Amino acid sequence: MKKNKWSLLLAMMIVSVQGMAQVRQEYLLEKDWKFAKGDHPQAEQTVFDDAQWQTVTVPHDWAITGPFDGNNDLQKVAIVQNGETEAGMKAGRTGGLPFIGAGWYRLSFGVPGFRPGKRVVLLFDGAMSNAVVYVNGKKAGNWPYGYNSFSFDITDYIHAEGKNTLAVRLENFAQSSRWYPGAGLYRNVHLIVTNDTYVPVWGTYITTPVVSADKAAVQLRTAVNRKGTKQLVEIRTRLLNAAGKVIATVVDQVSPDSTAITQRFTIEHPVLWSPETPVLYKAVTQLYEGKQLKDEYETPFGIRTIEYKAGKGFLLNGQARKFKGVCNHHDLGPLGAAINTAALRRQIRLLKDMGCDAIRTSHNMPAPELVKLCDEMGILLMVESFDEWKAPKVKNGYSRYFDEWVEKDLVNMVHHYRNNPSNIMWSIGNEVPDQSTKDGKDIARRLQDICHREDPTRPVTVGMDRIDDAIKMGFAAVLDIPGFNYKPHRYPEAHSKLPQGFLMGTETASTVSSRGVYKFPLAFYKNKAYDDNQCSSYDFEACSWSQVPDDEFVQQDDLDYVIGEFVWTGFDYLGEPTPYDAKWPSHSSYFGIFDLAGLPKDRFYLYRSKWNPGQPTMHILPHWTWPGREGEVTPVFCYTNYPSAELFVNGKSMGRISKDSSSRQSRYRLMWKDVVYQPGVIKVVAYDVNGKAVGLDSVKTAGKPHHIVLEADRKQLTADGKDLVYITASVVDKDGNLCPSADNLLRFNVTGAGSFKAVANGDATSLESFQLPQMKVFSGKLVFIVRAGEKKGSIKAVAQSGGLQDASCTVKVQ
Ligand code: GAL
Repeated sequence: MKKNKWSLLLAMMIVSVQGMAQVRQEYLLEKDWKFAKGDHPQAEQTVFDDAQWQTVTVPHDWAITGPFDGNNDLQKVAIVQNGETEAGMKAGRTGGLPFIGAGWYRLSFGVPGFRPGKRVVLLFDGAMSNAVVYVNGKKAGNWPYGYNSFSFDITDYIHAEGKNTLAVRLENFAQSSRWYPGAGLYRNVHLIVTNDTYVPVWGTYITTPVVSADKAAVQLRTAVNRKGTKQLVEIRTRLLNAAGKVIATVVDQVSPDSTAITQRFTIEHPVLWSPETPVLYKAVTQLYEGKQLKDEYETPFGIRTIEYKAGKGFLLNGQARKFKGVCNHHDLGPLGAAINTAALRRQIRLLKDMGCDAIRTSHNMPAPELVKLCDEMGILLMVESFDEWKAPKVKNGYSRYFDEWVEKDLVNMVHHYRNNPSNIMWSIGNEVPDQSTKDGKDIARRLQDICHREDPTRPVTVGMDRIDDAIKMGFAAVLDIPGFNYKPHRYPEAHSKLPQGFLMGTETASTVSSRGVYKFPLAFYKNKAYDDNQCSSYDFEACSWSQVPDDEFVQQDDLDYVIGEFVWTGFDYLGEPTPYDAKWPSHSSYFGIFDLAGLPKDRFYLYRSKWNPGQPTMHILPHWTWPGREGEVTPVFCYTNYPSAELFVNGKSMGRISKDSSSRQSRYRLMWKDVVYQPGVIKVVAYDVNGKAVGLDSVKTAGKPHHIVLEADRKQLTADGKDLVYITASVVDKDGNLCPSADNLLRFNVTGAGSFKAVANGDATSLESFQLPQMKVFSGKLVFIVRAGEKKGSIKAVAQSGGLQDASCTVKVQ
């Protein structure tokens, strides 16, 4: 039995970095956790019977399996941000999932290699929420904020021999969030074993004070902890380039009474990091006592400069650019909050194809996996921390913890992510009501100063919605970067009243739409609600406080001092089903450019046509299957980066039109608003600036649902038990045309080297479980997710539905 546990633990070992001496071991505590919801007296004790508890793998979100229920966290509130003055019942505000209450996790674990003179640290990437951590029955520490990373030295509680018991109690309060936060150990838990002379968690800080094409000066500050006898420590650091070649080495001595040392390096002809060239270097630091190697610590980094200047805006490596960004929540749709690298990588891939180069981690600290991927794949990151400070937005939100925890939370965030080149600014808050309070600007200054103290190299922003108060109270003037949410029409005024000389759209658009759904007659609407709880995909609908994309585009294009935008949101997320906050069963957002399944809505092509000029975009909307609309006006739009196009309905020209400045929309979209529907085919031919026909898109009226088509987004997975393939299933007619209003129930059967993981269709009103291998298609489509096993082989995924021909696809696992 004991032998089994040890070998399991060894299998969990992930970082015994190749070539690195075994002086530091890092284990991911993933498998064989026991979990039970509710409170369980004595569950922190070593001797406790958890045999009946569920066995789970961490990262784990205990609430995503549902079931959905409008009574879960039913909130009676006025959503002030939406201009509401009277409290009303909000059923889906936090997703309608059962995340409220306590839950316990227990793990029996060994610590290979532990003996006197070793140190053991537990590092949590995030635990939702109010974590209290016990080791062998003793409290090791607690951390309330569910989004932050934290660590405890547990050396004194560890048994040298045999098993140890880790127990974690979590509790989520009702009315503690404005969206679905997830529940449980939803991010990774690490066990780190070192010698007694070691670099502590996040113990290095790397900066590049001088950068030019010829040279980069690199400065590395390393903290050295010594728990044993204090001796002289020699610290040898090598810098490695992207190819792994050593390009600089520095050796220094740390005197017995010093706790940190700064080392300086020069790199000739550095390759600069940018979203287009995400080149990473690495510092490998070794601590020696005499001849004995005590620790080895790696710090990946990038070389790049960032500047924010009046009259120039944001400069990356000396080049001005505007953020083409999105705000994203942390949940991964059908996977819930449980972090998964493959799911994040897919999101970034989709965003980059759109031309997006920036993400705001609204409204809290990101998972380390996301930050690492942004470094590696090239995305600029605004690392955000809080949705509220002292003044509450929700009854049990962060304001409960603010006084005691805000500095600790900020320090952890900054220490965690101050070496990441993708991180180009800190955000200390979103729409904090303190914008309007007497003390607000002092709090802002204090929090900004904490960020500057811990990291003088990055500026600080806040997403501000109360523009009048923020300016009048001096709040906006304090910030390094004034960020405004939904105020494009007031940028000139804010610019003239503020000292910084530039500003940013921290949150923009908030256009609402449901993939594949179109409403008639076409008109601009604010807060428009329909009986079916859906929104129109003509991208003309927004909230009372928000806009459609083009309203922001004009300001981004016309005002030099605006340094970019972060669209609300890249992906739909769980909770906040505006404009149906009070109309169950809506329980996920309509704001996304991608739906909850990660399928692009029409709006994706509008952003792509503007943000990714290097790639042709040609997209026609709506679909053309409208039985019963014969003879009725059914406008046709084309989202393209070409300047003009001609529309044909069943071969007859509806006219050639060009983008023009007659309205904000006609600058960015080609719109034929008077087209009358008749079944058949609509076709758009686009012309370049020289009048040459260069692009084509068409859509046909579909016949009856006939068969299923599957498209896997990857051909090959890694046999790590975590890798994912996303398979899009479409219901099509006999000729392969998408049936745009199909709602057939599909069933999935996954065999071989992987298993069914989850499914989503992007319908914000669907109460079907994400975890059962069946779901109805929405607007003809859904996406199911298949997870690789730990053995090589091949996965076969089959989708079936009564009355339709099946489909299958195969994916390799290597
Ligand atoms: C903003 C807020 C976001 C989200 C959004 C919806 O005011 O900062 O968190 O609620 O509205 O449009």
